[in-house]
Amino acid sequence: MDNLISELEILKEQDGEACETVHVSKDSSTGNSRKLYIESYGCQMNFSDSEIVASILQKNGFDTTSDINEADVIFLNTCSIREKAETTVRHRLMHINGLKKHKPEMLVGVLGCMAERLKSKLLEEEKIVDLVAGPDAYRDLPNLISQVDDGARAVNTFLSREETYADISPVRLNSNGVTAFISIMRGCDNMCSFCVVPFTRGRERSRDPHSVVAEARQLFENGYREVTLLGQNVDSYKWSAAENNKARLEKNQVSEVTTFAELLEQVALVHPDLRVRFATSHPKDITDDVLHTMARHENICKCIHLPLQSGNSRILELMDRGYTREWYMSKVQKIREILGEDCAITSDMIAGFCSETEEEHQDTLTLMDLVKYDYAYMFFYSERPGTVAAKKYKDDISDSTKKTRLEEIIKKQREHSLIRNQTDVGKVHKVLAEGFSRRSADFLQGRNSANKVIVFPKEHYQKGQYVNVLVEDCTGGTLVGKAV
Ligand code: SAH
Ligand code: SF4
Ligand code: F3S
Repeated sequence: MDNLISELEILKEQDGEACETVHVSKDSSTGNSRKLYIESYGCQMNFSDSEIVASILQKNGFDTTSDINEADVIFLNTCSIREKAETTVRHRLMHINGLKKHKPEMLVGVLGCMAERLKSKLLEEEKIVDLVAGPDAYRDLPNLISQVDDGARAVNTFLSREETYADISPVRLNSNGVTAFISIMRGCDNMCSFCVVPFTRGRERSRDPHSVVAEARQLFENGYREVTLLGQNVDSYKWSAAENNKARLEKNQVSEVTTFAELLEQVALVHPDLRVRFATSHPKDITDDVLHTMARHENICKCIHLPLQSGNSRILELMDRGYTREWYMSKVQKIREILGEDCAITSDMIAGFCSETEEEHQDTLTLMDLVKYDYAYMFFYSERPGTVAAKKYKDDISDSTKKTRLEEIIKKQREHSLIRNQTDVGKVHKVLAEGFSRRSADFLQGRNSANKVIVFPKEHYQKGQYVNVLVEDCTGGTLVGKAV
């Protein structure tokens, strides 16, 4: 099962925004008669969902293919986070339209966040789309496909308060056989004013901790050595046996509640050789408990994705992020106190949010100087229909100012990534080897606890092994060394 599908193609576009990755399904043959091709856009949650979709359809007569031309069903699992993400998908649909002219029986479906946002409107806007399914409707896909087989067009964009797909064992789509993602919660109850996710993914709900731990254990037994626990806001993970997760518990109610810190510990205890990562932490919700749990377990990786968005308190308030510049800095201080200087801190940034002045933009740059992020994903603000910001604030920063500010943020981050990587030179790092380096089969590549990519001569080492590597050199993106 594990090597059914692997990463076939990674397309990277650099357009001033952070890299965008597209994952494409690989060939599998379990003797099923129909072929499914899935292309996934957006965040890890979407890539993880495509593995659920592949699993559901494999039980319903489909093998996956990497060749779009031999597909009976084409799914695009889409993202709505910025306008450009949607434009990319629309271009892709135009291309698929060309293919469909030669093979009219081919079924084209749009899944994910764009499906949820546009619902049946997508059928009108994009004439070649036969099927639209939102992120909570994937169990219904076999039924939706048969509706299309019967000549109808099919839509299900129902958002659930319970669905976590806990019982579905994902088909690993982009697997290197060493690292895997485990989705621990779905949806988001925050309402950051710029963000479309609460509308496309619905209410927050947490997955049964037993099923999470069982999945981690199964992965370890299958040779995996790293899991990343996924959610839009993992620190608000909360599961209660009593309420079967149907409603969030009142603060003082006594019940068996599993918090994120507890779940993290349970997964870390699966095996000391199983590394655990998680994303994303919301700065307002990450607890000292989580930090202490990280400190207690060597196998919980010392890397925290703590998206800042803006370094200015007025802008943060407009964004409804729930913290100020000072409060954010006190969190960073706490991380340094409990986990030390080696713990990586990474971020997301938005340049040119509504009404942001030049001085307020400078606050983002000065905060970056204070934190010195190891890495950041950087974007310019893109207004999303239906969000609070779209309704309440004017998107009044010109494209050229947004771009200039974004370039300044990117330039600063490049300097900081290099500075942070330079502090790793001359030290020995425990690296989990993930496979050959992109450039040469004589080198392996893997990551250290802080999530830095380290390349080293292969010698007799194999992927899936932990290797102590003395780092001798670095760029802003990669560390280079040799096994010791
Ligand atoms: N749950 C995560 C974010 C998920 S979206 C969190 O709260 O941190 C990933 C990133 O996309 C966000 O952190 C933000 O930086 C960016 N983003 C979201 N909406 C955006 C928009 N409308 N314009 C530009 N960037 C946006
Ligand atoms: Fe969007 Fe905010 Fe939720 Fe993150 S926490 S997904 S930015 S609403
Ligand atoms: Fe995009 Fe949806 Fe993820 S909008 S970033 S695919 S949750």
